[in-house]
Amino acid sequence: MNNARNPLIAGNWQMYKGGLQGVELAGALVGIAREVPNVDLVIAPPFTVLAACAHEVEGSSIAIAAQNFYPKNEGAFTGEVSAPMLKDSGCTWVIVGHSERRQYFGETDATVAERVQAAIAAGLEPIVCVGETLAERESGQTLAVVNRQVSAFINLLTHHAVIAYEPVWAIGTGKTAGPNEAEEVHAAIRAQLDKHRSGLGTTTRILYGGSVKADNAAALLACPNVDGALVGGASLDANTFGAIARAAQTLA
Ligand code: 13P
Repeated sequence: MNNARNPLIAGNWQMYKGGLQGVELAGALVGIAREVPNVDLVIAPPFTVLAACAHEVEGSSIAIAAQNFYPKNEGAFTGEVSAPMLKDSGCTWVIVGHSERRQYFGETDATVAERVQAAIAAGLEPIVCVGETLAERESGQTLAVVNRQVSAFINLLTHHAVIAYEPVWAIGTGKTAGPNEAEEVHAAIRAQLDKHRSGLGTTTRILYGGSVKADNAAALLACPNVDGALVGGASLDANTFGAIARAAQTLA
């Protein structure tokens, strides 16, 4: 981490905790938020409990993110949810381009860019995800793939943007990029941002995601270009998410 940027720990609940359990988890995190005053905490519950979780954490420093949205304000788009609807539900953030969206729901660099633009236009802060597959890593294409993914939305970024580097092979697999592997990609993204627009790299927070747990968080967060974590499985439990947040507070 680097003192120039506030650490950010975000919990992506994926398709878990969509009922009362989710609201209880949000409530359990309020106490943890008080212990980590120098860490920005974001949770991304499923759509069904966004408003209830927002209500539960009201008055705390925890912010609410959605995991996806449809980039039109309203209309005949059965089953979809818009950015203004997310705002009405209490969201201030939204995850965009998660690898599961790219892999299972046909999202491309182009649709990711569309969502980044629509999120910013609606006043939501996007957490934009990038990352290579195992095959891409093994064939030496990691930096080229991530560079291409970032290029798709780099023009749209504001100076308080958040990018999450999540190697696809590390998500939910228990395999984490080692601190050196993560740092190499984070540094490359930051250099790309700075090359694009002077200062953009200094202000953009780059989170690492992919099997971040209580026992590996500190080593990853200690990397100078890792500004926080996007946590999946370990964010579903207040104790483990709390331990990751505390690791960030210790380094902040
Ligand atoms: P895991 O932490 O379960 O690997 O999930 C990472 C992730 O996809 C967060 O968005």
